[in-house]
Amino acid sequence: MDPYKYRPSSAFNTPFWTTNSGNPVWNNNSVLTVGNRGPILLEDYQFVEKIANFDRERIPERVVHARGASAKGFFEVTHDVSHLTCADFLRAPGVQTPVIVRFSTVIHERGSPETIRDPRGFATKFYTREGNFDLVGNNFPVFFIRDAMKFPDVIHAFKPNPKSNVQENWRILDYLSHHPESFNTFTWFYDDVGIPVNYRHMEGFGVHTYTLLNKAGKVLYVKFHWKPTCGVKSLLEEEAIRIGGTNHSHATQDLYDSIAAGNYPEWKLYFQTMDPDHEDNFDFDPLDTTKTWPEDILPLQPVGRLVLNKNIDNFFAENEMLAFSMHVVPGISYSNDKMLQGRIFAYADTQRHRLGPNYLQLPVNAPKCAHHNNHHDGFMNFMHRDEEVNYFPSRFDPVRHAERVPMSNAIINGRRERSVIEKENNFKEGGDRYRSWAPDRQERFIKRWVEALSDPRLTHEIRSIWISYLTQADRSLGQKVASRLNVRPSI
Ligand code: HEM
Repeated sequence: MDPYKYRPSSAFNTPFWTTNSGNPVWNNNSVLTVGNRGPILLEDYQFVEKIANFDRERIPERVVHARGASAKGFFEVTHDVSHLTCADFLRAPGVQTPVIVRFSTVIHERGSPETIRDPRGFATKFYTREGNFDLVGNNFPVFFIRDAMKFPDVIHAFKPNPKSNVQENWRILDYLSHHPESFNTFTWFYDDVGIPVNYRHMEGFGVHTYTLLNKAGKVLYVKFHWKPTCGVKSLLEEEAIRIGGTNHSHATQDLYDSIAAGNYPEWKLYFQTMDPDHEDNFDFDPLDTTKTWPEDILPLQPVGRLVLNKNIDNFFAENEMLAFSMHVVPGISYSNDKMLQGRIFAYADTQRHRLGPNYLQLPVNAPKCAHHNNHHDGFMNFMHRDEEVNYFPSRFDPVRHAERVPMSNAIINGRRERSVIEKENNFKEGGDRYRSWAPDRQERFIKRWVEALSDPRLTHEIRSIWISYLTQADRSLGQKVASRLNVRPSI
């Protein structure tokens, strides 16, 4: 028998109980004691192992997006985009790639209700033949801030007060009053879409500007958009309270039940591209995560469809241990978006902390294509290797470099500096969005602002700053909120 052929898995089972090392367990009911009523003996290995395993069942939850649900399926190319990218998994219509998707809320803990007003995560891992591609996005196309340095602060402000452990509006509005660029994302957060009805009826956005490279090495900026085929639906406050009051996992259950019933959720993927040579033609910076791109000038181009047709088999293995790390594949790359650049470091780093240095060996995270390098050992390394050469280069080792992949040859040249995005344009997009709504939707948005700004811990100064921002976005919006709060608008 080859002892290494068998991997630990429930498929390799005995019909009777054993310890983790396979020793038979003939009594799984009673601890080993001195006499019938005496103390437990330390030699009760079976008991110690069982409790020790139990004691360690939890791993750290994600520092953000702890609450989530995942499902598996496939991505299928429906339109020819081979002129835009040389990504192998996008090579031709009809090509399918297995995926796992994790939806999440952002702020609260692993077991928190799924009816809270919060952005939703929409993270997709494509298991391509060229390694994994992680598209880790949200259900809003924009983000509150535009510099990665600020991410821990914005999250701290949204997380519960470290003293009371309660999420408090005054902390959020205090912090973001220093960041007028956040207003645009508030037109999503305080809009009806701030509480999606479930995970199936929401859009997804890569948010960042990525780049596409084609075979000729031509680089385009790109934004990714997911559109659900069943439409976008949201919950109003009263419905959210009712649903959350009876089932705090309603979105997880909806996803699971829909797939189990054969009602497979589906999204269409679109590219929105921009030639980097045109990046100065706009009144905003295309690398700014607080902005979308105008769809009338840069239309959405259909690419493919995502179908989730298989539930996960085990929540811990395929949700808690699922780890996204912003991996890209040849043909898709990053841009200089300051937030995206920060995320490239953050994700792999947090996975090494949360799951350990070999997190990419876990079945859900491991690439489904052949892979090879000399990184080895470390905690929880369960790869069996028998090579004698673990260095490079070597005349004994035939492994060679992969074929060269196209990469941007743009010249990067500049002073070292810590600076802000110059074209701020903080209010135009949000103001336009507000003005595009029907009056009842505007009214609900106003009400949410009035309620948030009524937090008794907010100072007159912070309220006035917000009124000024709202007024700059739309004069009547600012006036309406100001009059209900009894604050005089001033710009
Ligand atoms: C510099 C900015 C950011 C930093 C430093 C950051 C950091 C993190 C960290 C540390 C996690 C936890 C990962 C884990 O433990 O598995 C996370 C999760 C996540 N982040 Fe970010 N993030 C940033 C911006 C964003 C943006 C702009 C988006 C949306 C486009 C986003 C979407 C997500 C999603 C969807 C998850 C959950 C992934 C999952 O389901 O496992 N993040 N982020």
